[in-house]
Amino acid sequence: MHSIPCLDLKVQHQQIKEEIFAAFEQVYDQTAFSGGPFVEAFEKSFAEFVGTEYCVGVSNGTVALHLAMLALGIGEGDEVIIPANTFIATAWGVSHAGATPVFVDCDATWNIDPNKIAAAVTKKTKAVIGVHLYGQPFDVDAVKAICDQYGLFLVEDAAQAQGARYKGTRVGSFGEMACYSFYPGKNLGACGEGGGITTQNKSYADQLRSLRNHGSTQRYFHDEIGYNYRMGGLEGASLSVKLKYLEGWNNNRKAIANRYQNEINNPRIQIQEKPSWADGIFHLFVVIPEDKDAFVRHLNAHGIIAAYHYPVPCHLQKAYLHLGYRRGDFPNAEYLADNCVSIPMYPELTSDNVDAVIKCLNQY
Ligand SMILES: Cc1ncc(COP(=O)(O)O)c(C=O)c1O
Repeated sequence: MHSIPCLDLKVQHQQIKEEIFAAFEQVYDQTAFSGGPFVEAFEKSFAEFVGTEYCVGVSNGTVALHLAMLALGIGEGDEVIIPANTFIATAWGVSHAGATPVFVDCDATWNIDPNKIAAAVTKKTKAVIGVHLYGQPFDVDAVKAICDQYGLFLVEDAAQAQGARYKGTRVGSFGEMACYSFYPGKNLGACGEGGGITTQNKSYADQLRSLRNHGSTQRYFHDEIGYNYRMGGLEGASLSVKLKYLEGWNNNRKAIANRYQNEINNPRIQIQEKPSWADGIFHLFVVIPEDKDAFVRHLNAHGIIAAYHYPVPCHLQKAYLHLGYRRGDFPNAEYLADNCVSIPMYPELTSDNVDAVIKCLNQY
């Protein structure tokens, strides 16, 4: 039986193979393997795409978050509020900076619940990282209002949301900084690992550039303790090629999501709510079926491969046991983790594939 995977990167990479290989050849001929002109070219075009003055390319999305914390002066003794329902790396960014992640629940949008943030604020709180999870923007204005009220920095984790819009504006310019992952499976993914930070603020951009490069702006002079978090030239070149296609790919995802939203009409399957402000780009398409295990067995029997994003909320991960959270602390995030299933979503899904997925879900 022909199966339909949750994500397939092969078709897309075959389509653009020649263009990518030509870009790789240029990097190779110039031996511009670490940082350099191909990274700078990508930074410039991605900043333009997002609508920010600056983009700083780094080696992955986790270090993007780490550096954003450092650039804000966040470290030991500080707390940063983040949603319990996110990929764990949002929390790593905080922990790697020596600060403590403080989790809050999600609401019916499955993103951070702005009404839960105030109760989590303490004297130690320095920032909120809002996550545009699954590619759907969180309620930026509501979260920003609380940040303003308590004097907190807002950082966007846009790892899953390259090109998503909130009230008509692309995400990535709403906070002090926005962090991206260009992991291969992302809507915009490098041929390799990659990450980036966008900002409107020159002093953040300057500091991020120094921190990613051994704390140095002049070779062999190190003004601060830095890191080797540079983006590679091959990754930068591949991202520049792919950025040209991103809007088209995102539109394909939206069209598929639109079909799922309109044509999946099984009352036993709950679909993510789409708030009026959100023009999401469906990095993932997540549903909540009745009886997850039976649902996944049904999909498998029809050759449809599902995935789980994410089966354990951050506050219940073993790595954060020492923070003392318990099951029951964040019921919405826990419910989602216990019940969510991701169904196939990638731009190259054919309409026959989409038909098959919809039919299979409606027969469940
Ligand atoms: C929401 C979110 N934040 C951060 C990251 C970290 O990115 P990376 O895997 O590139 O380190 C990812 C992706 O993995 C993510 O999905």
